[in-house]
Amino acid sequence: MTSQFVPMYKILSEGKTKNFELSQRKITKKDVDFAKIREINHPREIPPKIGTLMVLTRKESIFDCVMSDAEYEKITNRTIVRIARGNVLIAGLGLGMILMPLLKNKDVKKITVIEKEQELIDLISPKIKKHDKKNKLQVIHGDINEIKLPKEQKFDVIYFDIWDNVCGDNYQQMKDLKKKFSKNRAKGSTVLCWEEQSTRSQR
Ligand SMILES: C[S@@+](CC[C@H](N)C(=O)[O-])C[C@H]1O[C@@H](n2cnc3c(N)ncnc32)[C@H](O)[C@@H]1O
Repeated sequence: MTSQFVPMYKILSEGKTKNFELSQRKITKKDVDFAKIREINHPREIPPKIGTLMVLTRKESIFDCVMSDAEYEKITNRTIVRIARGNVLIAGLGLGMILMPLLKNKDVKKITVIEKEQELIDLISPKIKKHDKKNKLQVIHGDINEIKLPKEQKFDVIYFDIWDNVCGDNYQQMKDLKKKFSKNRAKGSTVLCWEEQSTRSQR
């Protein structure tokens, strides 16, 4: 089930920065049918659904998708949304897709997002902030590999979601990040990385 996610075209507006573009993409029945044919040969692919997607791309290449709210992204981000509670640390703002259900979740008390690209913070976070009725969200500009959080700052859930694609090379980075932030784990905390299982199997 992915119904906990909000269609991001209703939250964000199309826009451009120096290096990024945020645009709507209409998915038609033809697109879905084509994806279903591809699925025969690529069984892990999850076809999109008919509707409007929000797509975040890097400008230099139209194929360089950073994030969208396609079905695949919803499915691969379901677990974090389901288990989030207490004080949550997230690396990677993207579209802010996972933030929308977390802001509504009463069990989530505080959300700290670390995002490397100031341009994305400026483009995305004011729109998400409008839905932060309980003032739970803080977005910090920084590189998760470099940033140092005080060891007194403890999180109940930590989620690393900084990768555009699944690639075996990311697995070592996942291990390093988990190690680096082990001092920031509260008792009984959970640490997750986006698509960790698939990444591990591609090493
Ligand atoms: C796939 S998107 C995250 C999607 C997001 N979870 C959502 O719900 O829309 C990856 C994000 O991580 C950011 N990022 C990449 N490397 C990073 C790093 N080293 N530190 C912090 N953020 C990083 C990218 O700029 C991008 O915004």
